[in-house]
Amino acid sequence: MLWVQLVVISVTGFAVRGQDPTEVFGVTYEWNKLDFTWPDDSFKARFLDSSQFIPENTTISGVKVWRDRLYVTLPRWRRGVPVTLASVPLPTAGRYLNTSPKLEPFPSWEMQHVGNCSALQNVQNVEIHPDGYMWVIDSGRVDTLSQHPDSRCAPKIFVFDLSSGTSPGVIVREVTFPDSVISRDTYLEDIVLDTDGSGYTYISDSSENDPGLIVYSWKENRSWKVRDGRSMRADPGVRSLSINGVYVDINRNIAGLALSPVSDSGQRRLYYSPLGSYSLFSIPTSVLRDETHAVGDVSGYVKTHGRKRSISQGMVMDSHGVLYYGLLGENAITKWDTNLPFEGNQHKIAQDNNLLQWPASFGFDSQLRNLTVVSNRLQNFLSGRVHLNEPNFRIITAFTGTKSYLYPRTGIDYATSSHRTTEILDGSFSGDRNTIHQSRHEHITGNNHLNAGGRMTPILNMIAVLVITRLAVA
Ligand SMILES: *[C@@H]1O[C@H](CO)[C@@H](O)[C@H](O)[C@H]1NC(C)=O
Ligand SMILES: *[C@@H]1O[C@H](CO)[C@@H](O)[C@H](O)[C@H]1NC(C)=O
Ligand SMILES: *[C@@H]1O[C@H](CO)[C@@H](O)[C@H](O)[C@H]1NC(C)=O
Ligand SMILES: *[C@@H]1O[C@H](CO)[C@@H](O)[C@H](O)[C@H]1NC(C)=O
Repeated sequence: MLWVQLVVISVTGFAVRGQDPTEVFGVTYEWNKLDFTWPDDSFKARFLDSSQFIPENTTISGVKVWRDRLYVTLPRWRRGVPVTLASVPLPTAGRYLNTSPKLEPFPSWEMQHVGNCSALQNVQNVEIHPDGYMWVIDSGRVDTLSQHPDSRCAPKIFVFDLSSGTSPGVIVREVTFPDSVISRDTYLEDIVLDTDGSGYTYISDSSENDPGLIVYSWKENRSWKVRDGRSMRADPGVRSLSINGVYVDINRNIAGLALSPVSDSGQRRLYYSPLGSYSLFSIPTSVLRDETHAVGDVSGYVKTHGRKRSISQGMVMDSHGVLYYGLLGENAITKWDTNLPFEGNQHKIAQDNNLLQWPASFGFDSQLRNLTVVSNRLQNFLSGRVHLNEPNFRIITAFTGTKSYLYPRTGIDYATSSHRTTEILDGSFSGDRNTIHQSRHEHITGNNHLNAGGRMTPILNMIAVLVITRLAVA
């Protein structure tokens, strides 16, 4: 009986993937340790000698895509992170000249200087408007996970213009948050842009003592913070999590943000979740935009959607209201179509115990309609077990056929086939996910054609299922 089921499952997966093999996650870049485009070798040697560059302490966290480049963030959680914002070119289709490219500091080396408060200090995330304005959130405080964080610089927003009209990296706005809005123990986690109306930005502040949502109005050049203890603080009952046998403390406040498209009634909702919580929450942006809510109680406006299958860090929504987020305890990526009830509609779209350890951040590009994910094995970093002889950081990409929440819902060539396929893939994974996936990905990593994963899947699935079938019969 068991083996009959497995064969049926495999045939479904086989047929669907056979039709459109591109709609599967594949690794685009991977790094054991990160390296940079140094001005020259002596510069690098000086950074290494003076512990301004400590490879074990340097990790990628955020990712966003604009035109032909990937922008990645390297938070300064510990000493020895020479660059906090960098970029690499997107791979050109079919050409993988280098699968571990050196990171180019953005916008320059000068802007990476620790302790110079006019330069970038500690960047966890960015968001890029389709027009090319890149919003960078900088906590100011550095070495935040060490015994002695340094908070000489204040938290800031930098807005850079990436468009070709000006030289990329021109600062179009720089906002220093006053201490009255954001205290110096802040940690700015994630940012979304609400371009509807007069331009609001929402930022999660995971401060241990005073977590909340920062609202910044571009038009008024003003900011304020909205707080809700129940939904923006870590759940006291959620303290640690095991990821591939490594226990990490996840008792941290509000983290990933996702903004919905504009509804038919002209409304948007901001979705969020603390790192240390299984619950997913949302609040109408009209509540956030009303500065009177900076004091007073917004708990009545917060909606609790339900329990996620695991905790998550980054999340992103597409222009049709489909939310994508990681499941850290399951090495998996999940999606939920927010037009449907949360319960019963969380679909796991990828799971891999090797490749998907800590899916930290998500971004859509504008042209290819691919979803890009960074996975960074953060559990090893947090527990001091980084092994520089194995891949620690990966950029993983899948074609979804959609664009981000920053694009209008109409006028998009929404590939219905991608929708159908991912849904059937969910079903096909429910047989024996780990075995099927691991055999596929062992192939991917064991072979330098990182992108061949999609095409090889059906055959490897068949092999995996044949192995399982044998076991079941025996
Ligand atoms: C990483 O940073 C921490 C704290 O900032 C420091 O104590 C540690 O020595 C660094 N790691 C290495 C391998 O030097
Ligand atoms: C600080 O950084 C800014 C921006 O890169 C630069 O213009 C300035 O010269 C730097 N100041 C010092 C003292 O290095
Ligand atoms: C915005 O306000 C800050 C003070 O909070 C000021 O330093 C800055 O120059 C203002 N920017 C613009 C574009 O008005
Ligand atoms: C976009 O996704 C497709 C299919 O997953 C992949 O073949 C392609 O390389 C991706 N493009 C980029 C630039 O990552």
